[in-house]
Amino acid sequence: MKNILVTGGLGFIGSHTCVELINSGFTPIILDNLSNSEPWIKDRIEKIVNQSVVFYEGDCRDKELLNQIFTEQKINGIIHFAAYKAVGESVNEPLKYYENNIGGLTAILEVSQKQNCSNLVFSSSCTVYGTPDRLPVDESAQIKSAESPYGTTKIICEKIIQDLSKADKNYKSILLRYFNPIGAHETSLIGELPLGVPSNLVPFITQTAAGIRESLTVFGNDYNTKDGSCVRDFIHVTDLAKAHIKALEFLTNKNEGTCEAVNIGTGNGNTVLELINSFEKSTGQKLNYTLGNRRGGDVEAVYADAKKSKELLGWEAEISLEQSLLDAWNWQKTL
Ligand code: WQD
Repeated sequence: MKNILVTGGLGFIGSHTCVELINSGFTPIILDNLSNSEPWIKDRIEKIVNQSVVFYEGDCRDKELLNQIFTEQKINGIIHFAAYKAVGESVNEPLKYYENNIGGLTAILEVSQKQNCSNLVFSSSCTVYGTPDRLPVDESAQIKSAESPYGTTKIICEKIIQDLSKADKNYKSILLRYFNPIGAHETSLIGELPLGVPSNLVPFITQTAAGIRESLTVFGNDYNTKDGSCVRDFIHVTDLAKAHIKALEFLTNKNEGTCEAVNIGTGNGNTVLELINSFEKSTGQKLNYTLGNRRGGDVEAVYADAKKSKELLGWEAEISLEQSLLDAWNWQKTL
């Protein structure tokens, strides 16, 4: 059985990826420090896949623990999700982000290289593109300086992996640049669990529809887009999870070193207001929202050129925006 170390495996994307790993015949070995997830997510994963899952509670900066896991579990590959990801928080607490996100990655790289095991799938983000010069944005686009320390950690981490790949010709890695992950598992047993006030759009929408939040503020309707609100590429978290399986298979089939960056998006751009209308249509829930000022650091429009993911990985998004929003709403109703 192919044992895959999944750091941050109890998180939003990590938990959905563990489900798809098992569905595809891999064995996830989860490492999570529970700083942004709950222990009962493991029970939910087990309930979905109807089998037990190996879980180590700990931090991926703990090299002793990493070595122990590699030795005990015969790791064949790694999916590295563990990182802080709140854009706003990163502006106020940059050192926390640099230490955690970069320190976590370098520990993983050091131990995996020493254990002679690469096949590293790195969780990156479209945020590395900043405001693209042209749309849809493809992987050859210039990497711009990020709008937040969170985004800068993704740029630095990509560079670290690329430099390691130049130094170690056997190291195999793939950098998956996610667009905007939304939705929840079809069983409504796992989904996005924002601790505190959500900063991301869809959890804020579902909490507003559930009456937890008074109303949603649309951050700006004076952008140069079809209806004045920002454009994003919203991708179902299960489609995103499946891309990780394809990435692992690509790496496993490679018999020499590699380091590829790949966009993981639908290739379609939707505005915030279109997403709100789609939510109301697919769920039948009226949403209370107001048009407010722009949010600092927001990119006007970004959506993926999804050609490379299809050609290199044989992967493409399949779940519709409407279904994604319905899944998000069904999950919210269980909370
Ligand atoms: C989307 C759009 C907001 C909330 C960031 C990171 C990315 C990834 C996802 C971590 C924007 C608008 C939002 C609200 C709104 N990282 N919005 N009212 O900023 O595109 O991407 O989160 O997971 O790497 O960069 O996502 O969901 O915060 O915002 O109008 O209450 O929704 O202005 O245009 P973003 P988001």
